[in-house]
Amino acid sequence: MMSLKIVVVILCFVVLQLVSATVFKDCGTNAGTLASVDVSDCPQNTVPCPFKRGANVTLVVKLTPTEASKGATLNLYGIIAGIKTPFQTKVDACKSDITCPITQGQATTFTAVVYVQPAYPKLRLVVDVELTSDDGKFLVCVQVPAEITD
Ligand SMILES: *[C@@H]1O[C@H](CO)[C@@H](O)[C@H](O)[C@H]1NC(C)=O
Repeated sequence: MMSLKIVVVILCFVVLQLVSATVFKDCGTNAGTLASVDVSDCPQNTVPCPFKRGANVTLVVKLTPTEASKGATLNLYGIIAGIKTPFQTKVDACKSDITCPITQGQATTFTAVVYVQPAYPKLRLVVDVELTSDDGKFLVCVQVPAEITD
């Protein structure tokens, strides 16, 4: 039987999830601990996050890497009706998105900017952001429900 203490701890985690700035899903982060995810122009707990056509949407992830890595690679996907479509892949994240080398145990910030093409159709999708270490592990893997809007 679960003790009351454990139940209280679980409830606290649920509450923390509810008050976190942007609603997201961890899709397998295994080389880092996520602290927070913030998407620009997405008010707290808005689902889906509006991705305005013609605008740059900024995604800021605060994390503490649990492994060191010399480099980091950014892969961005859009999941539309369950189909994962590459959006921007094999980007050298060290050039602008995160400070390299990645140091184990040192809190850092990762920033991804998504330019929403004016030609994109207005639809709902899941934005999938993957930052991988040199040995292919996820420093960050987050999915944010989004909607292309005007
Ligand atoms: C989006 O970002 C790109 C690259 O930084 C910049 O050239 C462009 O002017 C930005 N567009 C808007 C609408 O802010």
